[in-house]
Amino acid sequence: MTREILSSAPAKVILCGEHAVVYGEPALVTAINLKAYCRLTETKTGKIEIVSKNLGKSMSYTLDSREEPSKNELYPILRSLLHILDKFDKRVSARIEISSEIPVSAGLGSSAAVPVACSAALYYLINGKLDREAIMEAAREAEKIIHGRPSGIDTMIATFGGVYAYRKFEEPIKIDVPKDFPKILVIDTGVKRSTGALVERVRKLKERYPKVIDPVIHAIGRLTIEAIYAIFDRDYERLGELLTLNHRLLSAIGVSHEQLDLIVKTAVENGALGAKLTGAGGGGCAIAICYEEHVEHVINALKAQGFKCFSVNVSEDGVTIEE
Ligand code: PMV
Repeated sequence: MTREILSSAPAKVILCGEHAVVYGEPALVTAINLKAYCRLTETKTGKIEIVSKNLGKSMSYTLDSREEPSKNELYPILRSLLHILDKFDKRVSARIEISSEIPVSAGLGSSAAVPVACSAALYYLINGKLDREAIMEAAREAEKIIHGRPSGIDTMIATFGGVYAYRKFEEPIKIDVPKDFPKILVIDTGVKRSTGALVERVRKLKERYPKVIDPVIHAIGRLTIEAIYAIFDRDYERLGELLTLNHRLLSAIGVSHEQLDLIVKTAVENGALGAKLTGAGGGGCAIAICYEEHVEHVINALKAQGFKCFSVNVSEDGVTIEE
């Protein structure tokens, strides 16, 4: 009988601390209710075939061929899958179909959620259970190709779900978000950008002006700790103020964009508690937090500026086998 497995992994928004997290500072991240799905079908072709519905792309790799696979957009996913096959010393052929609700290259962690979902499906096919650490490790193979200096935050949250304080090389700390936590809005600039290029831009700036940039990076880390205390105190005005301040610090290290600045200004002027870019910046998405009663007004103001805007929920789901 042909076996078929459907898996999923969530998108994320970084509430604060992106970029600084690459240099060992803490960041605060939440999984959200948008998912990437992987449908894996076991085959007898001797190949790994990967098809992305959203990208309209596919690739095929013959297992045990000595040829280097072609390095297209799906190659990072293949690397994660080969990592799992090598781990079990198995040659399982399969067709992998990816579909996703997560906008691509927008800072919502699509490039982590997809390899996490795919690695989980293959791991489950071979081992009949999910080992989250092993899945995260395999997905990081993809992340390393996509951008050379990943902090690991995206794969961690796509694997575990929930809300976490994350610091590189340390055990993530789960944060219980109070029930009255404000609404999180995601606003898409529609400007595509590359995480790798933006991480590299910060690295170069930091190398040129270490005495200027290092304190900013450290301030972002410190701000994340303050933001976590603000959540514990349920002081959402303070949290909002810190998020907007985080945006300004990110702007100082060169990763904002005029559209992101416009979103932050519009959101805050129309009643949001705070707003900032999320993820690598340079385009992609921004987030705003606001009380329920102000949501409509903030969304209307952003829509009037031509932005796509939607409200998301914190999601406790990490990587899941759906059936
Ligand atoms: O834009 P995204 O979803 O790829 O997030 C990148 C977050 C960074 O902190 C900029 C990089 C990283 O590896 O943590």
